[in-house]
Amino acid sequence: MDRSPAMNHDRDTLIAAARAAASKAYAPYSNFHVGAALGFADGSVVTGANVENASYGLALCAETVAAGKALSEDWCGVLEAVAVIGGQAGAVGLGDPVTPCGRCRQVLNEIAALGGSDPVVWCAGGDTVLEMRLSELLPHAFGPQSLA
Ligand code: THU
Repeated sequence: MDRSPAMNHDRDTLIAAARAAASKAYAPYSNFHVGAALGFADGSVVTGANVENASYGLALCAETVAAGKALSEDWCGVLEAVAVIGGQAGAVGLGDPVTPCGRCRQVLNEIAALGGSDPVVWCAGGDTVLEMRLSELLPHAFGPQSLA
C-alpha cells in the first residue's frame, strides 16, 4: 500500500478543481451542489459533480461521477488525492466540510485499490479543510482483494 504523501497534487489546486466541478452540478431537487476532483499520480485530474434525478433516490454523487468518468476513460492510474467540496447553491465551500458518503467511500476504495494507493482525501469547508486517508474514512474495506 502506497502511503507516501501526495506529490503531484497541491491541496488548494485540487480543491479549486472540485469547486469548479461543483458549478456544473445538476441538483435541482436538493439544491446542494457537490464537486469532486481525483488526482492521479501521472498528474491527471478527473472531476465530477452530483447529478440528481426526478426519482430522487437515483442521485449520483460527485465522487461517484468522477470515479465513473475516470474508470470509463481509462485514466485510472495511482489515485493520489481526492478533493471534495459542497454546499447549498451559492454557498459552496462556505459551511461544514462535505465528507464522502458511505457509498462514495466504497466507490473510491475500488479505484484506489486498482492503483494500490491509500489516497489523501481533502474535504473543504468554510473554516477548515479536513484531511484524511481513505483508509481512515473506510477502515477494513471490502475490495477487490476480498474476492481473491
Ligand atoms: N452528495 C454528493 O455528491 N456527495 C456526497 O458525498 C454526499 C452527497 C450529493 C447527493 C445529492 O445530490 C446531494 O449531495 C444532497 O444529498
